[in-house]
Parts: sequence; structure tokens; C-alpha cells
Amino acid sequence: MSATMKAWQVSRWGLANLKVVEREIPRPGPGEVLVRVRAVSLNYRDKVAVEGHEAPYGTPSPYTPCGDLAGEIAGVGPGVEHWSLGDRVSANFYTRWLDGQAAPDMDVRLNALSVDTQGVLAEYAVVPAPAVVRAPASLSMEETATLPVAGVTAWSALVTLGQLKAGQSVLLLGTGGVSLFGLQFARMLGARAIVTSRSAEKLERAKALGATDVVDTSRHPEWASQVLELTGGRGVDHIFEAVGGDSYRQSVAAAAMGARISTIGFLGDTEFTVPIGRLIVRRIVIQGLSVGHRRSFEDMIAAIDLNGLKPVIDRVYDWKDVPAAFGHLERGPFGKVVVSINP
Ligand SMILES: NC(=O)c1ccc[n+]([C@@H]2O[C@H](COP(=O)([O-])OP(=O)(O)OC[C@H]3O[C@@H](n4cnc5c(N)ncnc54)[C@H](OP(=O)(O)O)[C@@H]3O)[C@@H](O)[C@H]2O)c1
Repeated sequence: MSATMKAWQVSRWGLANLKVVEREIPRPGPGEVLVRVRAVSLNYRDKVAVEGHEAPYGTPSPYTPCGDLAGEIAGVGPGVEHWSLGDRVSANFYTRWLDGQAAPDMDVRLNALSVDTQGVLAEYAVVPAPAVVRAPASLSMEETATLPVAGVTAWSALVTLGQLKAGQSVLLLGTGGVSLFGLQFARMLGARAIVTSRSAEKLERAKALGATDVVDTSRHPEWASQVLELTGGRGVDHIFEAVGGDSYRQSVAAAAMGARISTIGFLGDTEFTVPIGRLIVRRIVIQGLSVGHRRSFEDMIAAIDLNGLKPVIDRVYDWKDVPAAFGHLERGPFGKVVVSINP
């Protein structure tokens, strides 16, 4: 193994400053493994982190972005059991959250890959061994790299926290990575999946993936009334809310009795105002969530292998085209944007 590797890095915050640098291959310390990275997927927060907005959480500088990786074990540190050279792996975003409720201080001490550690957009990355999961046997490295954030978030919302039942309905807002995993899991588990998008063309693709119903929000800005009409006035049982602001008001309007709104993101607005009376009489659960624990990741992998589910990749970019991959992310992908490394 050569002693150096290539990594994408910013030494000053800003996407325009992302450059390939040559640096030493990191060595795994006690309780850590070295992964030869084969693929990385991009998330909205990678862009936010490259722009320096996560610096208060302890993001290192200079900084290599991204936390979603797939690769092979290339070294193990002292005290690491269970992993052997060449094992195909991925890693949980939260490296110390293995199961159950998150630690009380996990909102300030995240222990999350690429938030308060160096990221993985490099030929090699060191990962705490407890975070490592075996890659699904049925998926390629590129497909596996889509799972840690978007996949686990959707699984946590619908299964770990949501306890989705067959026959229920799920509303997915937009056609990004989290939404499309939500669509696929909902269908896999026997639920109805209603998808919204600002693009008619993306809605056709969502239908091909199994969406039961679609709503074009560019034609129906008051989309909640469309959702109510589609459900005979009953509303939907599970909602992925990643937009905020007026979208949140409409999500509450479209919620069924006892519905759960998974509060995932704020693509449109960081705040919302909703009528409390409706929350009360409809017994609506508002659930904030942040990705998930390693147990959710492993449960999801088992279900993916068993059901032959294939993550939706909008495009795989070559290692040298990372800036174009971030550009694609900014335009709003259909599913995931992936970077292939060491092909
Ligand atoms: N809480 C968590 O644990 C967690 C985990 C993962 C992601 N997130 C957050 O969840 C959000 C979605 O993540 P993602 O990875 O799925 O994103 P993504 O892949 O970048 O996709 C976002 C999609 O949302 C739609 N969209 C974008 N801006 C919008 C706006 N202003 N109003 C309405 N729709 C909009 C677009 O779909 P159309 O073009 O089809 O309309 C776009 O493709 C982000 O804010 C992300 O930071 C949170």
C-alpha cells in the first residue's frame, strides 16, 4: 500500500475551494478500522458543512466532507474484533449511537462522521469500529453508499419510530434521497405511497418506482387539498416533512387522525406555524428525528437483502467530477448522487 492517498478537501470554507490534496493514509487507532473507500454519496448537509455552517459542532479545518461511505476493510486497530481485511462495509452516521434512545448530549457532542470528524471523500478513511456495518450482499458499492443517511432516516421514520402497518398511507414530499427511500420502504411494507414534486417528469419516474398516487405541486400549490381528496378526506398516516414553513401547515392539514409527521428537514424554511387545535383534535404526533442508530441500519440492510430493493441513484460521478456532483445536488436530484472512488 502506498503511504499517501488522495482526498477532497477545503482549507477555506466554500464549495469553490474544494480541491484534491495528497496526504498520508490515516492509521487506525485503538477501536478503529481503516476503510478503502469505493463509493460516497452526497447529502444536502455535506454542502452545508463545506460552507462552514457546521463549524460550531467541531468540524475540523482543513476539512474533507461527506459521511456516507461504502468500501472494504483495509486495516484494523488494536482491540478490534469481528472485522477482517477485505470485508465489504458501510458505517452508521452516528458512530456511538448503537441502539435505543440517543445520549442526552448528542445534540452538542454528535460523534458523527464528517461533522466532528474528518469526512470520507478520500481514498481511505478511519472509522470507529462500533459504527461499521456489513454491506448488503445484494448491493453494489455505489448502491451501498446511498444508505447511511437517506436510507436510515427513512427507515427510522417509517419503521423504528413510525411502526408502519400494511394498509396505511405515507406522504413523501419531493423526490430526493430520503423521500424515494420512504417510497420504496412504504411499498415494500404494503403501504400506500403518495409522492409530491415540483416536476411532472419526476412524478412519472416516481410512478414507475411504485408511487400509488402523485401530486404536482407546481400545478397545485395548495397540495394538501389534493392529498385529502385522494384519501377520501381521511388524510395520510405518515408524512415526511423536509420543507418547513407553509409546507408544514399543509402537512398538518393533510394528516389523518393519529398521524405521525416526521420532521426531517427545512429545505424551504427553518420555522413553521400550525393550528394547535387541529393537532389536538386529530391527535397528531410531531416527531423530530436525526438519522438513526446502528440497529436501524442493520435491520434495514436485512430487509433490503431479503426483498431485493435497489436504491435509486440519479447519477454516479467519477472521482474527478466531485464539483459537478455537488452542482447536481444543488439542482435537486431524483434519489441519490454518488461519487465512485478507486473504480
Ligand atoms: N433529519 C435527518 O436525519 C435528515 C436526514 C437526511 C436528510 N435530512 C434533510 O432532509 C431534507 C431532504 O434530504 P434529501 O437528502 O432527501 O435531499 P435531496 O436528495 O437533496 O432532495 C431534496 C428534494 O426536495 C425537493 N425540494 C427541494 N427544495 C424544496 C423546496 N424549497 N420546497 C419543496 N421541495 C423542495 C426536491 O424534490 P422535487 O424536485 O421533486 O420537488 C428535491 O429533489 C434536507 O433538508 C436534508 O438536510 C435530514
